[in-house]
Amino acid sequence: MAVSRREKNSQSTVRGSRIAIAIGIGVVAGCIFAFFFPNGFLSSNPPRRLSKSSLQEDLSLCESPEKINMLKTDIMRVSEKNAELKKQVRELNDKLRLAELGKDHAREQFMVLSEPHKAGPFGTVKGLRTNPTVLPDESVNPRLAKILAEVAVGKELIVALANSNVKGMLEVWFTSIKKVGIRNYLVVALDDAIVDFCKSNDVSVYKRDPDEVVDSLGKIGGNHAVSGLKFRILREFLQLGYSVLLSDVDIVFLQNPFDHLYRDSDVESMTDGHNNMTAYGYNDVFDEPAMGWARYAHTMRIWVYNSGFFYIRPTIPSIELLDRVADRMAHQANVWDQAVFNEELYYPSHPGYIGLHAAKRTMDFYLFMNSKVLFKTVRKDANLKKLKPVIVHINYHPDKLSRMLAVIEFYVNGKQDALDSFPDGSA
Ligand SMILES: *[C@@H]1O[C@H](CO)[C@@H](O)[C@H](O)[C@H]1NC(C)=O
Repeated sequence: MAVSRREKNSQSTVRGSRIAIAIGIGVVAGCIFAFFFPNGFLSSNPPRRLSKSSLQEDLSLCESPEKINMLKTDIMRVSEKNAELKKQVRELNDKLRLAELGKDHAREQFMVLSEPHKAGPFGTVKGLRTNPTVLPDESVNPRLAKILAEVAVGKELIVALANSNVKGMLEVWFTSIKKVGIRNYLVVALDDAIVDFCKSNDVSVYKRDPDEVVDSLGKIGGNHAVSGLKFRILREFLQLGYSVLLSDVDIVFLQNPFDHLYRDSDVESMTDGHNNMTAYGYNDVFDEPAMGWARYAHTMRIWVYNSGFFYIRPTIPSIELLDRVADRMAHQANVWDQAVFNEELYYPSHPGYIGLHAAKRTMDFYLFMNSKVLFKTVRKDANLKKLKPVIVHINYHPDKLSRMLAVIEFYVNGKQDALDSFPDGSA
């Protein structure tokens, strides 16, 4: 059936174009007649009723029923294709809208708040959450500005800090990023070996100018020493007007994270939480029986944000956050940068302290998945196993490299038992 139709199609091409010309002439003539004779040639005659049989009669005069059926299927095919194209356009528009969302929000809200306004009716008022971006200042670091202009896409990029201690993980990290097709990522190298390693792997790399204090920290380099550095280094990226998706190197990328950001907050971060409550906040009741009638005190809890993977927009509150964390890291002994990061984000103003007024958003903990969620829950759940995360962060486990490789085996190479040999926690 399909074959014979194709043959007929080629035979009827010439005839088809002749018909098309004839139809064209007919339409033009019709227009002219309609213009000059709006009521028809014989306006006294009632319009001819198009009964079903007369319509069929008319059609059979020009075409065989077979040809009509062919045309019908052609039309169906075309309209299917049309629907598909429309869907693609819609998806592109969605992406575009998402990309523009951050900027638009910022502009709108800035305009709205730049002069006093009356509050609107119930349910229509919305506070400022998307702060305006800073005016880029290239003089801060012209060399970095040049690199970012080349690497960034839409004024945003992934940034990781690395020294030679994490070379193995770094390789898995950028290989997974390349595989997903992400171009806008940059390694901040903390030693020369990493510079060479990146260059030989065609990975964009930036090494800071020597800075005694900061670089000595980087070289001693366990994971935690590096963590303290990044808040100082990130500042310049924001000052230059770029949004940064800061990423540790113990992370595997499985989709492009830039397709899954909201861009409506100063900080959008992955969570250490492992379910709806712990990730997004809950009422944790503190029980003190001695208080009798008032034995229950309600508290609010949320698992900390993971300071190894967050998206930060170039705004004043964002830069203030980085400065606060960097300052405390530099001046307080035995502090963990992730704890400081969370305290600065969340503690309210109180006597003797002015809290940070930054907008924050918790990322979806299934899409931006920590390794507790993966190894304790997801790998044991038939439905959750089918879901493909955007990233997996091996933050909860010390055997990082082998678990990263297992994640790739499982999600990229489809090896269903790749995650099975690992214990839930560290052995
Ligand atoms: C968690 O929250 C999501 C979104 O609100 C909801 O669809 C889901 O059912 C919740 N899961 C549980 C276990 O409550």
